[in-house]
Amino acid sequence: MKILVLNGPNLNMLGIREKSIYGSETYEDLLNLIKETAKENKIEVEVYQSNHEGGLVDRIQQAYFDGTEGIVINPAAYTHTSVAILDALKGVSLPAVEVHLSDVSQREDFRQISYAGMACVKTIMGKGFLGYKEGMEFLVEKYDRKGE
Ligand code: DQA
Repeated sequence: MKILVLNGPNLNMLGIREKSIYGSETYEDLLNLIKETAKENKIEVEVYQSNHEGGLVDRIQQAYFDGTEGIVINPAAYTHTSVAILDALKGVSLPAVEVHLSDVSQREDFRQISYAGMACVKTIMGKGFLGYKEGMEFLVEKYDRKGE
């Protein structure tokens, strides 16, 4: 199975940005956890991070053509603003899991809407880096055709 993990703006700054919310582990640490999870579950993973909405839309579209079977996405701030990312996810109709490091349901009002989440089969929030692991394993369990 091939999974794509997408990360939106400012997630490359993990370990530097707002440590009281996002913790002190770095983006590199997150990449290591994702790769480790892929290895444990014997799946292929690609990770892409962009600070640009269009870059994320382009990568979602590419997933339709490159054999990707599931997407784990943390759209970061674009969660709350981007109809373009919602439309891209709907357009490729691949199973997608929305992940947030923090528990956005307990944060500011402007974070209470998730456009991308409307195209996702599951949302995981407030579990830190482990949310990515859970999201990947959910896709393996539910959508790995080879496991049937
Ligand atoms: C986030 C939550 C978003 O509201 C915020 O803009 C982020 C990160 C999270 O992982 O908790 O950049 O997606």
